[in-house]
Amino acid sequence: MSDFVVVANRLPVDRVVGPEGEVGWRRSPGGLVTAITPLMRERDGAWIGWTGAADEEAESFTEDGLRLVPVPLSADDVELYYEGFSNATLWPLYHDAIVPPEFHRTAWDAYVRVNRRFAEKAAEVADKGALVWVQDYQLQLVPKMLRELRPDVRIGFFLHIPFPPGELFFRLPWRKEIVEGLLGADLVGFQLPAAAANFVRLSRRLLDVRVHGSMVHVDGRDVLAEAFPISVDVDELTDLIHRPDVRARAAQVRKELGDPACILLGVDRLDYTKGITQRLEAFGELLADGAFKPGEAVFVQVATPSRERVEQYQILRDDIELQVGRINGEFGQLGNPVINYMHTSYAREELAALYLAADVMVVTPLRDGMNLVAKEYVACHEDLRGALVLSEFAGAAEELRRAYLVNPYDVDGLKRILLEAVRADSRDLQKRMRAMRRRVVDNDVARWASEFLARLRSSTPSHDQ
Ligand code: ADP
Ligand code: F6P
Repeated sequence: MSDFVVVANRLPVDRVVGPEGEVGWRRSPGGLVTAITPLMRERDGAWIGWTGAADEEAESFTEDGLRLVPVPLSADDVELYYEGFSNATLWPLYHDAIVPPEFHRTAWDAYVRVNRRFAEKAAEVADKGALVWVQDYQLQLVPKMLRELRPDVRIGFFLHIPFPPGELFFRLPWRKEIVEGLLGADLVGFQLPAAAANFVRLSRRLLDVRVHGSMVHVDGRDVLAEAFPISVDVDELTDLIHRPDVRARAAQVRKELGDPACILLGVDRLDYTKGITQRLEAFGELLADGAFKPGEAVFVQVATPSRERVEQYQILRDDIELQVGRINGEFGQLGNPVINYMHTSYAREELAALYLAADVMVVTPLRDGMNLVAKEYVACHEDLRGALVLSEFAGAAEELRRAYLVNPYDVDGLKRILLEAVRADSRDLQKRMRAMRRRVVDNDVARWASEFLARLRSSTPSHDQ
């Protein structure tokens, strides 16, 4: 039993089986794991989640100091709940319907079934009066289900991705059930104040509940809906960039790339929300225009494999790889491609070295709840070197106002901003980086978690209302 329980779709590690059949664990992808792992180390809680493999029953175990409680998913659950409702319905719907969301009743049924399994596991693991913190869009029904099972626990929910406007959300045939599910929590957290306000408005329209500011009064309880912009582990990244091996690796990266005048860098999960195609298009046109000479500017794009069985992710991968091949074929030279594209996941040390080496960090999502990569780049530039090109449509843009902000749909605008960032003088870059660092260093992930949990603790326990 634990008095602090995190419930997330994924555990922080994925089960991997090596060529000889040996079982190992690898860090899971994405911002949620980056954000929650450091605070779990400090708080000695239990983390409930899926191991990333289908049809696997596993006992609770400890890995790298974390107490992990697996929830099994069958192959059917993976297809319908994870790849289906979570990543072919909710993910695109909540990200501006960049690709068309799919609505399938069998996928919804699986979502309900799997959410119930997570709620039951949380009810089993949580001590009396425990704090249970449910994470993200895959588990929006868990707060209500858990409350029915365990009215004594205090329940927080945090949505890591955007919350869509009514025009999009109202398409969802199960919109009422989702809002009711979330309102099972005592505190519902969002990345941005506009998303929290939007949720409160939609609750009133859909459920006819009473609302006072950020408070929704439902079933005789008060539920708070507020913004808590997530952040990065600044101490972890600072330790990394102080390491001589990481600094040496950064210098080596530059050398291996042919010592170009400018290294541009993209680091993303391979996801259609990230605007990878748009940034490569702009870079390709700048080479075609002669604004960048091959060898002078080199683009490094690291793309973590993600959701590889979902059709839209397969289409995206083919599109990007075709685009990279075309641009390299046209402008690259023997042994010197203009785009270095890696479809892989890197260790934190290697990522920190890349951030250190990069002159221009290009973060151009078409929509993103926050985007931790932008904040990681800033956290790694204690030297005040480097420029951050950042999409207006990333949550991070609300805080990082001194980045080179851009509309990623505007390819000409993107080209202009990339050129401006590449050609900026170092004094201007330093001023911008100093202002952005103040924001990130003062508001790191530890502060995000402690503010959320303090707010949750100060909410009136439901059984006292
Ligand atoms: P999302 O949660 O949508 O993936 P974020 O930018 O918020 O996007 O978080 C991504 C996290 O995953 C960051 O912590 C980043 O460092 C990490 N990451 C992204 N790409 C890679 C990669 N190729 N290798 C290792 N880690 C990566
Ligand atoms: O941060 C958003 C998020 O969707 C997390 O919920 C998720 O764990 C991560 O990105 C990676 O996605 P997935 O778990 O589908 O690989």
